[in-house]
Amino acid sequence: MKRISILIISLLFFAVSGVMAQSHKPAQASELDKKVDALIAKMTLEEKVGQMTEVTLDVVTKTNASPHQLDADKLKDAIMKYHVGSILNVSGPAYDRNHWHDVISSIQQAASEDRLKIPVIYGIDAIHGVTYTLGSTLFPQEIAMAATFNTDIVHQAGEITAYETRASYIPWNYSPVLDLGKSPLWPRIYETFGEDPYLVKTMGASIIKGYQGNDVGDKYHVAACMKHYLGYSYPLSGKDRTPAWIPDRYMREYFLPSFAEAVKAGAKTIMINSGEINGVPIHASKYMLTDVLRGELHFDGIAVSDWRDIEYLHDRHHIAATQKDAVMIAVNAGVDMSMVPLDYSFYTYLIELVNEGKVPMSRINEAVHRILKVKYELGLFERPVGNPDDYPKFGSEEFRKVSLQAATEAITLLKNNNNVLPLKKNIKVLVTGPTANTMRSLDGGWSYTWQGDLSDKLATGKNTILKAIQQKIGNDNVIYQPGASFDKLQNLDDAVAAAKNADAIVLCLGELSYTENVGNIDDLSLPAAQTQLALELAKTGKPIILVLAEGRPRVVTEAESHSAATLMTYLSGNEGGDALANILFGDANPSGRLSVTYPKYPNSLNNYYRKNLENGNPDDSHGYNPLYEFGFGLSYTTFSYSNLQLSKPDLKDGETLTVSVDVKNTGQLEGKESVLLYTSQLYASISPDFKRLRAYDKIDLKPGETKTVTFKLTPKDLAFVNDLNKTVTEAGDFKLMIGDETVGFKYISNTVPSRTGKL
Ligand code: BGC
Repeated sequence: MKRISILIISLLFFAVSGVMAQSHKPAQASELDKKVDALIAKMTLEEKVGQMTEVTLDVVTKTNASPHQLDADKLKDAIMKYHVGSILNVSGPAYDRNHWHDVISSIQQAASEDRLKIPVIYGIDAIHGVTYTLGSTLFPQEIAMAATFNTDIVHQAGEITAYETRASYIPWNYSPVLDLGKSPLWPRIYETFGEDPYLVKTMGASIIKGYQGNDVGDKYHVAACMKHYLGYSYPLSGKDRTPAWIPDRYMREYFLPSFAEAVKAGAKTIMINSGEINGVPIHASKYMLTDVLRGELHFDGIAVSDWRDIEYLHDRHHIAATQKDAVMIAVNAGVDMSMVPLDYSFYTYLIELVNEGKVPMSRINEAVHRILKVKYELGLFERPVGNPDDYPKFGSEEFRKVSLQAATEAITLLKNNNNVLPLKKNIKVLVTGPTANTMRSLDGGWSYTWQGDLSDKLATGKNTILKAIQQKIGNDNVIYQPGASFDKLQNLDDAVAAAKNADAIVLCLGELSYTENVGNIDDLSLPAAQTQLALELAKTGKPIILVLAEGRPRVVTEAESHSAATLMTYLSGNEGGDALANILFGDANPSGRLSVTYPKYPNSLNNYYRKNLENGNPDDSHGYNPLYEFGFGLSYTTFSYSNLQLSKPDLKDGETLTVSVDVKNTGQLEGKESVLLYTSQLYASISPDFKRLRAYDKIDLKPGETKTVTFKLTPKDLAFVNDLNKTVTEAGDFKLMIGDETVGFKYISNTVPSRTGKL
């Protein structure tokens, strides 16, 4: 029965999709579109479906060979028999550049022997630098990059990552993650630019421009892949790839803007969310993949599935009765390329489906058009493999410095009682805790391997927190006792005894690296052993400098209540140890601000842009009560805000409001300050968020210096999605906040109706 209804649905789609396919073609075909169409005209169905097929490198390498080696017969099969359009990933740990050169050259050589000589597009997860190439520049993960509130450095990181990806002969990067980091439980929150829609959107657009440059086809830029479209980051349980319930209105208000902005920034490709929302797997959602993505966002690049996700429509989601139905549903919904990636089943089923009339040829042509167009744009037809000599800056000191600066600007000082920091360099320091001496807690997942589990071996020459402190103040001034592993006490007495001989304790708690479902947790609290270590050390009375090296804000309230200073390092990358040591000992002034709310309790996980209802009742303390709020972060200097001014008292349709504020460095040290502009609408037809970030800037101030920071706001910047699913700005009273300054204004409009009849 189910199969019959699927058939009917698919036949209906057949009729509709011919129209859809045409309506999504660019209004005027460019020269490139014509060239692509001319190539498509020469292709057989098998060659077209091959282009839509992506397999993982394992499919074309020798079984159990170490190091991995291409298997000439398997490669020949992939190209000559199945005409695969794309290969991805790494089977095992990172390769060096030479190995990559051999791999990509062999693949492209094979492709050049196929009838139409269409180059393969190789894709990789270079998500914080080039994960899978030895010696590359690894940056802080996105959650930390967002904490810099510095779009320029994020842009530079994008440029460098693109350069080093091309230096690895790869033109396609599965980055950035544009998911909204709303849930601290979700194991991939570290891959996001944090919890705020505006921050995610602006950081995302910056890194995409860095990846793609002005010409994605030059030898230093790559195609970005915005992911995971859409709503992947907010599963109800917090566990990866479990169901989400997200109403359409909230989807549009919070989750869609980063993707809409990325399309405007020119992102060439998109990867689909593996999850299901309101019971609908996104890989099966024609509404999300075609109506919204193509019809509303006007995206015309490649939509690639995530890993095995078409198969999972049958195996996991149970919305397709067979694997073949799964292929039909996904392709008809709008998936252009299947990351199959372990076999050729997709290829076989799709050919059958086209021959049976269940997937229209127009849908195939549309998908292949998008794939070939990106291959042309990337210059793959002229230059399938880059020239090894073109990349002298790969892994250079110049690039390392940018990563160091990013880590320095990301690390967030959350507490500094009595200015205990910076520490003097001639004191004795106990360095302790499970994150003190491992690169895994600086780099996180997607570092050298999928799980980041070989970073201690492969991040050669890079400093853990311990090593960086030893280099900074000399081995003689540093005592090291781990005190605990991630979840068990380890020679606790030795750590406590060592603390008694130290002037200060640098206590490094947090998490080991993990990626995707491997990072699922049942409890947001830090494991008990780590808290116990903190409590025992606190009894010594020595000042505790608590360093949190972790991919998500684990609840640390009890341990943290005993610290004299607290620093959040997130996952700060290969230079994170050095950046932290510079900050601890006063060679750098911290300027990071939290990109996510730091919760105080495991069951109180509100984002800062909560509703007024979530502020609790006047007689209780159960409202928004984080340990530290989104946007919070201290410096070794102090800043004062004054003179917040608006260019006019009210904002009207078509007008721009200029906002200015004076920021003064009132302390003794030069420092960087992130200036965050929030607004609140007091009353609206949909209960307004308590406040929302609308703009930010980062400035540098010398002691005593004042700078005037200016922002421009238009009515569009104050918009929200109303109950008709329309993005509107409703007339009414607003509050605007920067630092501790507040000013009110009205938005006056006579054009925006709402269901409540309000104007
Ligand atoms: C992840 C994607 C990634 C892909 C390819 C999937 O498991 O969800 O983010 O790009 O694998 O490695």
